[in-house]
Amino acid sequence: MPAEEWTTAEHVRRYLCRADEVPRRAEGESVLLEHVPRDARRILDLGTGDGRLLALLQIDRPEMLGVGLDFSDLMLRAARDRFADEDRVEVVEHDLAKPLPALGHFDAVVSSMAIHHLEHERKRSLYGEVFALLEPGGVFANFEHVASPTHRLHLAFFAAIDEPLEHEDPSDRLLDVESQLVWLRELGFDDVDCYWKWLEMALLVGVKPAEMG
Ligand SMILES: C[S@@+](CC[C@H](N)C(=O)[O-])C[C@H]1O[C@@H](n2cnc3c(N)ncnc32)[C@H](O)[C@@H]1O
Repeated sequence: MPAEEWTTAEHVRRYLCRADEVPRRAEGESVLLEHVPRDARRILDLGTGDGRLLALLQIDRPEMLGVGLDFSDLMLRAARDRFADEDRVEVVEHDLAKPLPALGHFDAVVSSMAIHHLEHERKRSLYGEVFALLEPGGVFANFEHVASPTHRLHLAFFAAIDEPLEHEDPSDRLLDVESQLVWLRELGFDDVDCYWKWLEMALLVGVKPAEMG
């Protein structure tokens, strides 16, 4: 069962305790924040976890309306706790393996370290659904765990983040950057590129053209 570990308290607790310590993470996140317009009004976060990315986006976008999707009860609870005192963020239970629910349109769709848990075919169809629900000119920014080109570099990544390989998520379905950039272009995104990368952490960005045609 893919991503089953996100239903266990131990795995979720371990991830949340270490989330701030992942080397270079803040650097990648800061590039993501630069590419989500400050006036983005509605922002969707896919696999929101405890709402970390929505909270970072809120710092410079106090008026934004956030929607965070996740399928883990424990993560959903953590996100609801984080945003308990505000009504500008909605936390919705959803399994990303299934088509996105009807949530309206968004000025930006973001994700952090989540989509790599999906099978490759589903990653691609999800990217298509993201394109469809973005407003013209809207941004998709996916800060992601991607595949290394060689096993040696895969080992080097785990060494660099100081994690034994046994802690690798069994649900990881890592995919290289290039394939994902090709998909985003095929789906119609503009300005598609890898905007930041360090070993297996990458920021993939695409913009929905302002005028289709
Ligand atoms: C590594 S955590 C990242 C959480 C958060 N985005 C962050 O940056 O801290 C991965 C998240 O993806 C969620 N996830 C994994 N597979 C999922 C699926 N099929 N549907 C919805 N959420 C999923 C997990 O529950 C978990 O919250």
